[in-house]
Amino acid sequence: MQHSPEQLREKQMAGEEAIKYIENGMVIGIGTGTTAVYMIQALAQRLREGLTIVGAVPTSEATAQLASKLGIPLTDLDAHPQLDLAIDGADEIDGQLRLIKGGGGALLREKIVAAASRRFIIIADTSKLVSQLGHAFPVPVETIPFARTPAHLQLQALGAHVQLRQRDGQVFHTDSGNIILDCFFPGGIRDPQALHINMKSIVGVVEIGLFLGMTERAIIGSANGVQVLVNRP
Ligand code: A5P
Repeated sequence: MQHSPEQLREKQMAGEEAIKYIENGMVIGIGTGTTAVYMIQALAQRLREGLTIVGAVPTSEATAQLASKLGIPLTDLDAHPQLDLAIDGADEIDGQLRLIKGGGGALLREKIVAAASRRFIIIADTSKLVSQLGHAFPVPVETIPFARTPAHLQLQALGAHVQLRQRDGQVFHTDSGNIILDCFFPGGIRDPQALHINMKSIVGVVEIGLFLGMTERAIIGSANGVQVLVNRP
């Protein structure tokens, strides 16, 4: 996807602001995507300046590679099953800080890391803020390859226009070897909670790119500076 210079600036602002929430001695989760790249670069800079963390759990192979190239100490959920803080991007964010994630295909590890973390902070540019989820982005559904067609049909029965994700003309496989069925809801998603429950009950579905009730705050870069949206249940 092409990003304008303004959008990239917003992503960078959000990524750099989020680093302020990381304290000495923390174990953190680090997300995936273009906004997370800015955050990871800013983290590497802070570590060079003296911040010390116990380690970072990456949410994808791409993030693991970038972080280790930049000298960020990596760890995993076996060594640290509970994280202090996870910071990640999002594809859509609604007024209740409910999210669609998984545009980069990392939703399964992203959700595992978010669920393992005491605090989950989202970083994004203003284009990600929506009044209702689903208008612009599909909900990615990570599925075991063997269940591809039955899962596809059951997702269709839930009202989704389903598309098997491809990359460079080939079926896309996630870091865990699964496929992604992108579920489009052109009229938006009326009840994300009910949809989540219904999708999760399909046998062969591993995880859904709807992140509900997980986000503590969203840090949004904008032309007028950084906005912080806090979840008030
Ligand atoms: C990765 O699978 C996604 O969940 C990303 O976090 C999301 O797509 C945000 O990406 P950008 O920061 O590149 O917009």
